[in-house]
Amino acid sequence: MQINGSTKVLGIIGDPIAHSFSPAMQNAAILAAGINAVYLPFHVKTVNLKQAVEAIRSLSLTGVNVTVPHKEDVIPFLDEIDPAAKMIGAVNTIVNRDGRLIGYNTDGLGFIRSLQDDLDFQPSGKKVVLLGAGGAARAAIVSLAQSGVAHILIANRTFDKAEQLAGEFSGHFSGVEITSAELDEQSLIEALKKAHLLVNTTVVGLQGESFPFPIVEKLSADAVLYDMVYAPALTPLQQTAKNHAVSFSDGRSMLVGQGEEAFQLWFETKPPAEIMRLQIVK
Ligand code: ATR
Repeated sequence: MQINGSTKVLGIIGDPIAHSFSPAMQNAAILAAGINAVYLPFHVKTVNLKQAVEAIRSLSLTGVNVTVPHKEDVIPFLDEIDPAAKMIGAVNTIVNRDGRLIGYNTDGLGFIRSLQDDLDFQPSGKKVVLLGAGGAARAAIVSLAQSGVAHILIANRTFDKAEQLAGEFSGHFSGVEITSAELDEQSLIEALKKAHLLVNTTVVGLQGESFPFPIVEKLSADAVLYDMVYAPALTPLQQTAKNHAVSFSDGRSMLVGQGEEAFQLWFETKPPAEIMRLQIVK
């Protein structure tokens, strides 16, 4: 990597930041694409968020990714928010267009791309059971609804949050029904039988935990699982999918997908295939 006076500077802001895969992924793709740019980790505490966003303008950075805990808080400091990011309520990618800062959310796009690439799953007209009601759930719900699924059933441990999310989004997307349920066996059994896709957006499995009732076992034979958790070993949910020959994918591909979509927004060209993925499966 040759740094000179024309090198474009990008990065990621978050707190903490040292664990992020994005610098390795983005720099590998930048190098492979032969672009004169560099992507750096920036440790930004919440009290300094506004100044950090100002610095994108004042230092003429090409763009940044935004990660935990700033994805929501960054919105008021930007000049324009892409409609999907606005609905999701979170921005993970900022593009600096001649001093105007535009916020996007590529997590949802990365998720849809992963469904297609990893599971050969086309969302249009499909029935989905989605576990969880946090930020990751919002990105998945908006992108699935925009992709024309027929039905999303949101189930969450804290039922109120599922109900609130369903209320917020139902009626927003024509032809898409969005409903809520308790996260228990009785409430989900019928929906799981009919579902084409099960999405886990909760953190259950990250530390090897299981859901307290059978879920994957209740799916039909041709349903698929997308589990946003990724851990060094298969989680219990993923292991059950494997045991029951249910096709599944984990959050690794979403991480790659969001990175590839961000790269495309900044550089207006697709990153070379597979380069980012190779950085995180090492
Ligand atoms: P993210 O932004 O990654 O979605 P979040 O907003 O903290 O993170 O949401 C975490 C999700 O995991 C929530 O849906 C949470 O359920 P609650 O709303 O009931 O808290 C879910 N979650 C966390 N631990 C869980 C557990 N042990 N069992 C079931 N759901 C759990």
